[in-house]
Amino acid sequence: MSDREDLPEIGGSRINLGLESDLPEGAEPRVHDARADLPDRDLDRSLRPSLLVDFVNQKQVTEQLSLFIEAAKRREEPLDHVLLAGPPGLGKTSLANIVAAEMGVPLVQTAGPALEKKGDVAAFLTSLEPGSVFFIDEIHRLGRAVEETLYPAMEDGELPVVLGQGVGARTVTLPLPPFTLIGATTRSGLLTTPLRDRFGVSHRLEYYSPEDLAVIVSRSAGILEVQIDDAGAHAIAERSRGTPRVANRLLKRVRDFAEVKGTGIVDAEVAEAALEMLEVDRAGLDRSDRALLSLIANRFSGGPVGLSTIAVATGEETDTIEDVLEPYLLQLGMLKRTPRGRVLTRHAFEHLGLEPPAGHEQLF
Ligand SMILES: Nc1ncnc2c1ncn2[C@@H]1O[C@H](COP(=O)(O)OP(=O)(O)OP(=O)(O)O)[C@@H](O)[C@H]1O
Ligand SMILES: [Mg+2]
Repeated sequence: MSDREDLPEIGGSRINLGLESDLPEGAEPRVHDARADLPDRDLDRSLRPSLLVDFVNQKQVTEQLSLFIEAAKRREEPLDHVLLAGPPGLGKTSLANIVAAEMGVPLVQTAGPALEKKGDVAAFLTSLEPGSVFFIDEIHRLGRAVEETLYPAMEDGELPVVLGQGVGARTVTLPLPPFTLIGATTRSGLLTTPLRDRFGVSHRLEYYSPEDLAVIVSRSAGILEVQIDDAGAHAIAERSRGTPRVANRLLKRVRDFAEVKGTGIVDAEVAEAALEMLEVDRAGLDRSDRALLSLIANRFSGGPVGLSTIAVATGEETDTIEDVLEPYLLQLGMLKRTPRGRVLTRHAFEHLGLEPPAGHEQLF
């Protein structure tokens, strides 16, 4: 593509606060990325709520879960299998850990892509302590055969194993220790119906309100021993794209700023100056979000434009666009998915300070 140079850049936020050195080569530091694979894992761990009472918001989820946990404990049975869906960084892994802690059972964790063969699941399942929580992250990425191994395990607590080969082969059924499967997915749409149907409890985590995020920011500030006032917490919360993980990460960056450029105390003024520097705007959009929007606005007259075209034009993976960038833009009502592709809304044009092209209106 000859005119590639004039494309807005998406992805690396080019923010250097000493972050880069920790990153694997080629990885892009993007402070607003809600995914975990950035160098703040330790932060995530120490800030992770460990009990239901510490888990802010998502009342409909936590209330139901605490009821089911209570009931299961009274019956001295493991909790029914739980499916947690929702965008990255909203607390799925935290909830899985909390369920195990509240049930007082061990948690064994793996992820869809790590379970390649039937034998991989079998090894996990047969070695579980009775009552354990078996947590499978990215469960939508399980292979077909592995998924089918899970069906009888989830439903009847048994594992069919084929012994021998050819005509002499026979199937024996191994009984499994009772367990609770917790599956987490950022893409519940990719789950097969048979798998989905085998979860007794299914929850979708939603983006957090600024008020709830402010509570999380204040709590994290307490753990990190950062001095912050309410206005400072709110300023961060408002620009955290509804995501606790982003809120925690921004808090850390704002703290760096406050220590270097100020007195170390985070108030609204310091928070806003820091966020300004991080190029996170009032809607909580960072440079990558704005670049995506301007690309559609300027190069494709506001759309409709297909996902793969956007991916090529931006150099982003389609997964990143679908899992990380788009959900929040959809939620804000800046972007729409139509059968013919992605379309910008009037709101997005206003945010960019642009006029929608003539005739674009009927697409809204
Ligand atoms: N409800 C909450 N209250 C307080 N902190 C939270 C809450 N939810 C998430 N967090 C914070 O956000 C961080 C990220 O949460 P978590 O790792 O559970 O997200 P996730 O949904 O599993 O993300 P991913 O899809 O990337 O795996 C946690 O370490 C924790 O600090
Ligand atoms: Mg997780």
